Amino acid sequence: MNNRRVVVKIPASTANLGPGFDTLGMALSLYAWIELSVAEQTQFQFYGDQMKGLPKDKSNLIYKVAQLVFKEAGVEIPELSISMHSDIPLTRGLGSSASAIVGALVAANALIGSPLSDDKLFQMATALEGHPDNVGASLFGGIVVSAWDGERADYVRIEPHERLKTLVAIPAFQLSTEKARHALPSQISMADAVFNVGRSSLLVAALASGELGIIRHAMKDRLHQPYRAALIPGMTAILEQAVDHGALGVALSGAGPTLIAFVEESAAADTKRAGSGLEQFLLDTLKQEGIEAKTLWLAPCSSGPQIIVEDISSQPAISLPDRIRGEVKV
Ligand code: HSE
Repeated sequence: MNNRRVVVKIPASTANLGPGFDTLGMALSLYAWIELSVAEQTQFQFYGDQMKGLPKDKSNLIYKVAQLVFKEAGVEIPELSISMHSDIPLTRGLGSSASAIVGALVAANALIGSPLSDDKLFQMATALEGHPDNVGASLFGGIVVSAWDGERADYVRIEPHERLKTLVAIPAFQLSTEKARHALPSQISMADAVFNVGRSSLLVAALASGELGIIRHAMKDRLHQPYRAALIPGMTAILEQAVDHGALGVALSGAGPTLIAFVEESAAADTKRAGSGLEQFLLDTLKQEGIEAKTLWLAPCSSGPQIIVEDISSQPAISLPDRIRGEVKV
């Protein structure tokens, strides 16, 4: 393993999909890259705006997660060279921390010859993140339905419909998951629980069967979005009206503040051509509340982390940005 260099490319994710709080996740075509090798002294190279201000010592999340893998596998590698680039905006509800956790687990495991199974990595990732939705999507790709009892997480992966696309509106402000979880009540009514069980079940069935038309009725929630609305001005109007502007359905992405609209491919092409429609509606609605945002069209990402393992002695080092630019992109 001293001769190995591992590079992993990990997808971002959206969690909850409306009603599936802490349960549903989908991987998205936005990525982070982590490069890992054994070093004489621990060193970090971070690239990109998203990485600014992250610790460059052994308190770093990637370092700590890699050490958990080594401990679990019974090997000792105290010093590591870690490089990372991420296009996933931090604390916006697009699973940046989950992608870092999954990337570190997968890279560290590959560095020592992959002794841990994907299921083991999923259990570790879920315990680290505190819920399985984002980490499941980043680890397995596609749409992941999961349940965690605090000890074991089980999941089923669904292949996303080929015509399913998404449009995300990413507000300029950050919202920590901790703050967004604090807004939630400790108890809910039976009526609201039944409402969410119905919608979440309907959504999973719609996504699995390809009945995209049902999504507008299924992507509704009473468990978390109403309580988080005060933290994201404009959100309620977007949740109520986006379907009138061409969305199949719309939700808060994870804990927010990003909003995600599901769009059928033909409608996505129309709204892009018109240069208005849904995209303009999202931006205008947020702007009316004084919130600057940017929009991105993202596709569901069908695959989990892509991994390359290189022999350092025979493969020349390429910097992570050059590797990504050249779309030697694993
Ligand atoms: N299910 C989580 C939440 C996702 O909504 O708080 C955020 O990480």
